Amino acid sequence: MASVSDSWLLILLLPFFSPSFSTDVIESTCNSTSYHDLCVAAVTSTGAARSSDARGISAIVLSLALTNATNSSAYAARMASAPASAPALRSLFHACAEKYAAAGEALRWALKELRVESYDYAFVHASAAAEYPTACRVLFGQRKNASTAVLYPPELVRREEDLRRLCTVAVEIISLLG
Ligand SMILES: *[C@@H]1O[C@H](CO)[C@@H](O)[C@H](O)[C@H]1NC(C)=O
Ligand SMILES: *[C@@H]1O[C@H](CO)[C@@H](O)[C@H](O)[C@H]1NC(C)=O
Ligand SMILES: *[C@@H]1O[C@H](CO)[C@@H](O)[C@H](O)[C@H]1NC(C)=O
Ligand SMILES: *[C@@H]1O[C@H](CO)[C@@H](O)[C@H](O)[C@H]1NC(C)=O
Repeated sequence: MASVSDSWLLILLLPFFSPSFSTDVIESTCNSTSYHDLCVAAVTSTGAARSSDARGISAIVLSLALTNATNSSAYAARMASAPASAPALRSLFHACAEKYAAAGEALRWALKELRVESYDYAFVHASAAAEYPTACRVLFGQRKNASTAVLYPPELVRREEDLRRLCTVAVEIISLLG
């Protein structure tokens, strides 16, 4: 939900946007994704100036996903070096830090391909980015042995879901392009 002051800002800035700018573009683009509200919130939070078309909107969502992945990689790396954690847990966090870093790398590639309008490759990289957090969960799931069982931490559940949703929105918009 945009506040009243946001709406005023938009009206004041409107003449400076490209002629094709329209909140309808955001609405209709985000409407075609699985997470309409997340998509609209993401785009409006970053400022609408770059979001004059579906490509701009997908770029915004990709960069948010990149921030998310980088942040989660840093979080997992911090947990991996927490002296209080059990060694098995630390090594799992270490592996997950690498998965999230790889997700960030894939998102950087997706942004590069988007910039040169290589939509097929942007699609492939953005789809790959969504798989890395899943790989992290699988690592935790592999520890099924009761005596060494490690619960998949709720914080990682949340972070996996955040990144997966952002990547899904980006992928869905990219598939509209080209
Ligand atoms: C969004 O989708 C709904 C149905 O799914 C449709 O009724 C509505 O008109 C769409 N809005 C825009 C802006 O495309
Ligand atoms: C990650 O994305 C979610 C939305 O999916 C957002 O709520 C959260 O603030 C983001 N976190 C960072 C660190 O970017
Ligand atoms: C990750 O995001 C959280 C909340 O958004 C923030 O407090 C934290 O400093 C961020 N960490 C890194 C490494 O960017
Ligand atoms: C569980 O793991 C421990 C130590 O790794 C091992 O000694 C034990 O035999 C395993 N139990 C089962 C049921 O696999």
